[in-house]
Amino acid sequence: MENYQRIIEEIYSDLKSIEDTGKVANYIPELGSISADNFGINITTIDTKSFGIGNYKDKFSIQSISKILCLTLAYKLEGEKLWERIDVEPSGNPFNSLLQLESDCGKPRNPFINAGAIVVCDILISHLKSPKENFLSFCRDISNNTTLHYSEKVAKSEKKTGFRNVALCNFIKSFDNIKNNVDEVLDFYFHICSLEMSCKELSQIFLFLTDDNFRNHKGDRILTMAQAKRVNAIMLTCGFYDESGEFAFRVGLPGKSGVGGGIVAIHPDKYCIAVWSPKLNKKGNSYKGMLFLEKFTTKTASSIF
Ligand code: DON
Repeated sequence: MENYQRIIEEIYSDLKSIEDTGKVANYIPELGSISADNFGINITTIDTKSFGIGNYKDKFSIQSISKILCLTLAYKLEGEKLWERIDVEPSGNPFNSLLQLESDCGKPRNPFINAGAIVVCDILISHLKSPKENFLSFCRDISNNTTLHYSEKVAKSEKKTGFRNVALCNFIKSFDNIKNNVDEVLDFYFHICSLEMSCKELSQIFLFLTDDNFRNHKGDRILTMAQAKRVNAIMLTCGFYDESGEFAFRVGLPGKSGVGGGIVAIHPDKYCIAVWSPKLNKKGNSYKGMLFLEKFTTKTASSIF
């Protein structure tokens, strides 16, 4: 078994004080107030051993990482019909782009760009009685963690400035691929993005994507093996927007980023790792987070390739 604690400590101290050319996201004003110096890593192995360093216990805004959890719940509820409304192709465009929706007749390229996640939220609203509460319970159930919560401050802050998401939701509705009230869909979307977790919690909640034997504390399987394979495949090809190729090239794992500076990566069969460093590169992905994971999979020879 690898000495994960030693390895993450080594990479952490190599990277802790390098020059970080990224910038903290401030288009959601509440995110702009986070200290850029935060840096945390946690890895949880399939046999639930956990190793952390830095700010690994501090909760932060997981933003788009929650799109994996929304997709997971929608996939459970809707099954393969889900793919009639959302495609599984990389977009090669920024996460908040409106560009391809016109030629694609309102069918988003994948569930991880904002357009796709908004359609996933719409699908969840059609299935759930109290979408915000039910989604939160689902997350708490997977991880057996009742401390998970939304940040009302962040949700409110995003609602104030989320003009592109308002445009996306209305535009998709004009193609009849949003079935519910636009304000309700957006309110739900802003809440799922405001979910807060620490690196430790993130690396635990996604264990269901690493190990086919994973069952939650109630003994439930989260996804079938075939479904988990597909979610991992979309993470590999679409998890970093127009930088998905670069992430696969440098890190070689399925993963997902958020503009809060978090990144989660999965090694099916071995571990889930979460990194947090708030400064983002030009494509909206954590600068140090990507660097850390590149060094980690190289040192441990544990990419999927
Ligand atoms: O919709 C937004 O702009 C944000 N709530 C989420 C964006 C995000 O995290 C993109 N990921 N890198």
